[in-house]
Amino acid sequence: MSRNVEALFSAALAAYGKAYAPYSKFPVGAAVLTPEGEIFAGCNVENAAYPQGWCAETSAIAAMVGTGKQRIAEVCVVGGGAGLCTPCGGCRQRIREFAGADAAIHVAGPEGVRASFTLAELLPESFGPENLG
Ligand code: THU
Repeated sequence: MSRNVEALFSAALAAYGKAYAPYSKFPVGAAVLTPEGEIFAGCNVENAAYPQGWCAETSAIAAMVGTGKQRIAEVCVVGGGAGLCTPCGGCRQRIREFAGADAAIHVAGPEGVRASFTLAELLPESFGPENLG
């Protein structure tokens, strides 16, 4: 793992440990890296009124935007289970708002990174801020 990815993974793993997922029992942590090297992390936050819960990526993006940063260079998502915890469709679009097509999205389990994709691979032919002119 590169230094960036290691730091990003550790931040996402720490957030995974704080996830509030009593209903799905599927904790997720995410971390975003800015081009300046800052890292912001967050976890999924579920709710007894199920649709009101939100994803880890959403929390991490909110933490970043709340400090005035608006660019994402890389993302790491940590989730459990045997499969790949790739960002959901809505979160792919949320990442798209702040990241370029080449931004790396690392998908990890608690043991480490399992696969890496570019944003364009996960969200091809996407719609973004430039479309609005
Ligand atoms: N979840 C995330 O936080 N991020 C993902 O990338 C996939 C799914 C959350 C939403 C919900 O709290 C739980 O995982 C089960 O879907």
